[in-house]
Amino acid sequence: MRAMNVTDNIWWVGAIDWNLRDFHGFEVPEGTTYNCYLVKGESGVALVDTVKAPFVPELLARIQSVVPLDQVTHIVVNHVEPDHNGGLPQVMAAIPGARVVASPSGVRGVAEYHNGLAIEAVKGDDVIDLGGRTLEFLPQPMVHWPDSMFTYCPEERVLMPNDAFGQHVASEERFADELGLDEALRQLGIYYANILLPLGTAVGKAIDKVLEKGWALDVVAPSHGVMWRGADFGHVVEHYRRWGSGELADKAVVVYSTMWGSTEALAQRVGEGLSAGGVEVAVHDLAVTPLSHITYELLEAKALVLGSPTLHHGMLYRVAGYLQYLSGLKPAGRAAGVFGSYGWSKGAEKEMRERLEAIGMEVVADDFLVKFRPTADDLLAAEAWGRELAEAIKAR
Ligand code: FEO
Repeated sequence: MRAMNVTDNIWWVGAIDWNLRDFHGFEVPEGTTYNCYLVKGESGVALVDTVKAPFVPELLARIQSVVPLDQVTHIVVNHVEPDHNGGLPQVMAAIPGARVVASPSGVRGVAEYHNGLAIEAVKGDDVIDLGGRTLEFLPQPMVHWPDSMFTYCPEERVLMPNDAFGQHVASEERFADELGLDEALRQLGIYYANILLPLGTAVGKAIDKVLEKGWALDVVAPSHGVMWRGADFGHVVEHYRRWGSGELADKAVVVYSTMWGSTEALAQRVGEGLSAGGVEVAVHDLAVTPLSHITYELLEAKALVLGSPTLHHGMLYRVAGYLQYLSGLKPAGRAAGVFGSYGWSKGAEKEMRERLEAIGMEVVADDFLVKFRPTADDLLAAEAWGRELAEAIKAR
């Protein structure tokens, strides 16, 4: 296990989690990485962030490919969520001489999470001098936890912002230009949609704070996925700004669950109607597509069109689960429509409508329901309903 140079005096020493598929309910079909960075000065060496506990041996091996562990003088905890802080006690045990720092909120979080483990607080105007290389700190509360902090090394022009600007993708490539900029930006969007969507204001302020600092940014090195170097970070800022602004496109995401194929048949014809009406469409079966990827489709879409048959007087559990998932992410301000099939009693449509409105969406059309199996006329009507929805979506 070897480290990889980020710049002449900073190394990536993180871990690659190829097999992770579920990140606290955020489905990550392409795994993730837990990125840590080693910053080497003439009189000190700092480790910025640690890893999820099972990956500590990998982290320590990568550090030791650069310096012996006893040469590490500082450990910076940018964020106390367990994917970065879970392995901290093991790392501290392996490097007992290191001074360990976090934001004041991070100090409390580490103590609460690790049964009283004591570390030191750093504030925004503190500097750690490693001898020719220094570390500066920028607290960034709610990007995305109260403890979140960015660390910057001015001499290497590298920003280490932890979760911000990250992506859940496991790869041997360490830079966005190696993975492919388009793919890196797609992964950035999936991450934003599933973690940062309700925090757009705080994220916007975080970017402002970085720009106000006037820091030169040769490399932006987040704690997940690939790093951004050169002009690529400009694309990241542009995307974050757009997502944070709430600017939406004439796009609808048709999301459904089906029992015997009736709601699925409706979903496809509603999608055709939306498309014929001039709206970009994505159609997803909740049993097939990861919720995280459906939510990414919704990131820039003006509308969510949700379908479920009625079972036991209510919606199917996958639809209920997705609405619960969305309720935390709060994609408010979008249009919505509700459709589905039923046998002898209705009920799913009422539940879906109520949950969508509670999230802050506006149901802009009458519900479209079909008894048992859609006839040819029903399918034509579903298409017409889709076209009607398209007009409402484009008018927003
Ligand atoms: Fe990557 Fe908020 O943890």
